[in-house]
Amino acid sequence: MKISRIKIKNLFGIKEYEAGGENVELTGKNGVGKSSVIDAIRLALENKSDRDYIVRSGETEGEILIETDTGLSIDRKIRTQSSDYKSVKQNGNVIKSPEAFLAGIFTKLQLQPIEFMNMSKKDQNRIILDMIEYEWDLNTIKEWFGEIPQDVNYQQNILAVLNDIQAENGYYFQTRQDINRDIREKRAVVEDIKNSLPIGYDGAEWEDADLGDLYMEIEKRRKNNEMIEKAQTMLAGHDAKIRGLDADKEIRLATLDRQESEARTRYNSEISSLKEQINALMEKLASIDSRKADRVRVIESEYQAGVAKIESEIESYAEYRDREKLPVDDLLSQARNIEKMKGHVNEWRRMQRVEKEAEELKEKSDLLTKKIEKARSLPGEILETATIPIEGLSVQNGVPLINGLPVSNLSEGEKLDLCIDVAIQNRSGLQIVLIDGIEKLATPMREHMYQKCKEKGVQFIATRTTDDNDLIITEL
Ligand SMILES: Nc1ncnc2c1ncn2[C@@H]1O[C@H](COP(=O)(O)OP(=O)(O)OP(=O)(O)O)[C@@H](O)[C@H]1O
Ligand SMILES: [Mg+2]
Repeated sequence: MKISRIKIKNLFGIKEYEAGGENVELTGKNGVGKSSVIDAIRLALENKSDRDYIVRSGETEGEILIETDTGLSIDRKIRTQSSDYKSVKQNGNVIKSPEAFLAGIFTKLQLQPIEFMNMSKKDQNRIILDMIEYEWDLNTIKEWFGEIPQDVNYQQNILAVLNDIQAENGYYFQTRQDINRDIREKRAVVEDIKNSLPIGYDGAEWEDADLGDLYMEIEKRRKNNEMIEKAQTMLAGHDAKIRGLDADKEIRLATLDRQESEARTRYNSEISSLKEQINALMEKLASIDSRKADRVRVIESEYQAGVAKIESEIESYAEYRDREKLPVDDLLSQARNIEKMKGHVNEWRRMQRVEKEAEELKEKSDLLTKKIEKARSLPGEILETATIPIEGLSVQNGVPLINGLPVSNLSEGEKLDLCIDVAIQNRSGLQIVLIDGIEKLATPMREHMYQKCKEKGVQFIATRTTDDNDLIITEL
């Protein structure tokens, strides 16, 4: 859609102006009314002006009429003493919600395309990315990532959104970094525990090892060995004890002999001196033998009893006496080893737990890596299917590149081309750019700009301050 007729009356510094659908350059010295033409067209499209006084001084009504080659007509009358008039029609039919309709047929940049050059890189990139048309909503994001990733501004273009998702300061990257740090720490803990455990230690082997049976066997052997020792000691003491008893017997018999002989002597002497008592003493003498025999029997029987006691004691150990002692040391060191190994089980369990935690974190980290990689590969896929509005446009890390270069690297001429490309986004809207003050560009640049517009089939109205006294309208 192009403008086919412009009629201005009493707006800003213009008394009257009329033009057709040509590409024109308005030239003339300061104040001849060049910007007034541009501002009047803006007023028609935007229903507002940066200038406070719209109607030309001394007049009560100003008018701007624009017609397009598609049958659209915009007629505004601005009045100082009564309310304004507006008529927006398509082929003579009144358009409902005219301001919203008009807002949809042009972009702000069309009314000042060179402004794009002065924008911040961020705004320039955003504007270019926004031109890439790709149908998406939050469900698309959910399908891609299984969730809506946090800390992302979803009001941006999809490529900028994907860039935020994969960014190094983004949630996924940061979370993965935290998780990877945790994994490293846990693996270090596992390594420490492993180093503190015996080489090749497997806690599962020792966890259920049973010491009860082993200790029972050790106790049994100990008892058995004690009995053997006692039996042997006892056997060793047997002869000595019998010898003791023999000696005792000898001593007692010798003592008895001595006593008997002393008595005999004493009695004999007493017999001789105590004749009267001889009979009595003879009786006593006669009983000595039997008394001696009694005592001998007692001694003999006590001796026998002693021997029998020792013999019976020995008998009770008889079964152990000749047995071979069983070794205990081996079992003991075995038990000590098991206890030592059991002592490691808790650490080993902790090691296994930490190892498992590290594995689980690794899975999380891998999932995040997948999501980050997904966010990194999607722009390529999107650009493959999306309509690319600018020739040579690609996107890297969420940054648009023109023929492989960011906007900041483009030459002035390339940037001007880009201004026109981004200004005209809606190919079914108004195909016109208004360039007020094109004298800011050097002649070759200016010509380059006009050429670009012509190549793209974009109508242009440009103003340039020159030394001419009157407003000159040149068709280009
Ligand atoms: N509402 C108005 N009524 C009367 N005169 C106005 C009004 N608005 C602006 N002017 C005057 O109209 C003249 C043309 O202004 P305009 O801005 O169109 O000039 P220009 O040709 O763009 O000049 P420059 O080359 O300096 O930009 C100026 O003298 C300005 O002061
Ligand atoms: Mg001007």
